[in-house]
Amino acid sequence: MKTRKLGNSDLMVSAIGLGCMGLSHGYGPAADKNAAIALIRKAVDLGVTLFDTAEAYGASNEEIVGEALAPYRDKVIIATKFGFKDGDSTKGQDSRPPRIRAVAEASLKRLKTDRIDLFYQHRVDPNVPMEDVAGAVKDLIAEGKVKHFGLSEAGVTSIRRAHAVQPVTALQSEYSLWWREPETEILPTLDELGIGFVPFSPLGKGFLTGTIDENTSFSKDDFRNIVPRFSPEARKANQSLVDLLGAIAAGKQATQAQVAIAWLLSQKPWIVPIPGTTKLQRLEENLGAASIELSTEDLSQIEDALSKINVEGDRYPAHLAARAGR
Ligand SMILES: NC(=O)c1ccc[n+]([C@@H]2O[C@H](COP(=O)([O-])OP(=O)(O)OC[C@H]3O[C@@H](n4cnc5c(N)ncnc54)[C@H](OP(=O)(O)O)[C@@H]3O)[C@@H](O)[C@H]2O)c1
Repeated sequence: MKTRKLGNSDLMVSAIGLGCMGLSHGYGPAADKNAAIALIRKAVDLGVTLFDTAEAYGASNEEIVGEALAPYRDKVIIATKFGFKDGDSTKGQDSRPPRIRAVAEASLKRLKTDRIDLFYQHRVDPNVPMEDVAGAVKDLIAEGKVKHFGLSEAGVTSIRRAHAVQPVTALQSEYSLWWREPETEILPTLDELGIGFVPFSPLGKGFLTGTIDENTSFSKDDFRNIVPRFSPEARKANQSLVDLLGAIAAGKQATQAQVAIAWLLSQKPWIVPIPGTTKLQRLEENLGAASIELSTEDLSQIEDALSKINVEGDRYPAHLAARAGR
C-alpha cells in the first residue's frame, strides 16, 4: 500500500484509510463483532494504517476499533471525533472545552489506548468560539493525549481560526464524484495552509459502486432513507453517473468503486479517502484503487462527462445540511 502525508504535518498514513462507521452505525444492523474485528485486522494486513471512528458512532464502534487494533497499536493511526451533545448526532453540537476533554478521556478508554492520533471536531459548534475549541485540543496535545487536530465539514473561516491557534492536520469532509463542492473554496484553502484532506463517503454512501438502484430497499434504521439524494426518483435520475463510471472502469479492468476512489487520489497528493465496508471482498476491491492510475485523458473524459450530468437530490436533509460548512 502506498503512503501519503496529510498536508505539511508529519502524519504519514496509507493512501486509503478505512472508515469504520458502517460496521455498527448508519447503514442498518451492526456487523457481527468478531467479523468486524476480522475485517479491521484484514485491512491492517493489506497495509491500511488510518482507521476512522467517532464518539457519535456509538460506544461499540470505538470499542471494536480499539480491540481490533490493540495488537498493532504502534503501526496504526486511530482517528476519532468529538462534538455532539452526549455523543448523539441527533442532539446537536457540543464542543465546550470541558466536554471535549471528557470525550477524549472516554474515547481513550473505549479505544484502550493512551493517545488519540487524530482528534476531529465532528461539526463546528456555533455556540463555542473556534479559538476555544482549538485551545482545548492544544492542551490535550500538550499532555500527549492527542497527537493531531482535525475538523470535519468546517468552512474556510472556521478552518483559518482553528489553524491560527492549533495547526490543523486534516479536514474530513464529504467529497466524491457526486459531491464536489470542496473544490471551490476548501481545497485551495487547505493547499495554502498545508492541511491534509480526508474525503468521507468517497463511494457516495455506496451509490457510486453501481450496486444500488431505484429498486434497492434499505433497512429501516439506514440513514440513507432520509437522504434526498437516495430517494428512488433521485437514484433513477443519477444512474447516468454510475453508467459513466462503469464505462471508464471497464476500460481499465477496474470496478466503479475503484475508479471513484482513484479519481479522489488523483486530485491532490495530500488526499486520503476513507471508504467504509463490512465485507472482506469489498475491502480488497477498494484498496486496489491505490494501484489504479487515471491518465490525464481519463481525467478529462470524466470531467467532460460529469459536466453534462446534473446530480439530483440534496446530500443531506435540510436540518442536517444547516450544520455543515460553517
Ligand atoms: N465526518 C463525518 O461527518 C462523516 C460522515 C459520514 C462518514 N464518515 C466516515 O467516512 C467513512 C466512509 O463513508 P461512508 O461509509 O458514509 O460511505 P462510503 O464509504 O462512500 O460508502 C459505504 C457504503 O458503500 C458500500 N460499499 C463499500 N465498498 C463497496 C464496494 N466495493 N462495492 C459495493 N458497495 C460498497 C458499503 O456497504 P457494505 O458494508 O455492504 O460493503 C456502504 O454501504 C465512514 O465509515 C466514516 O468513518 C464521516
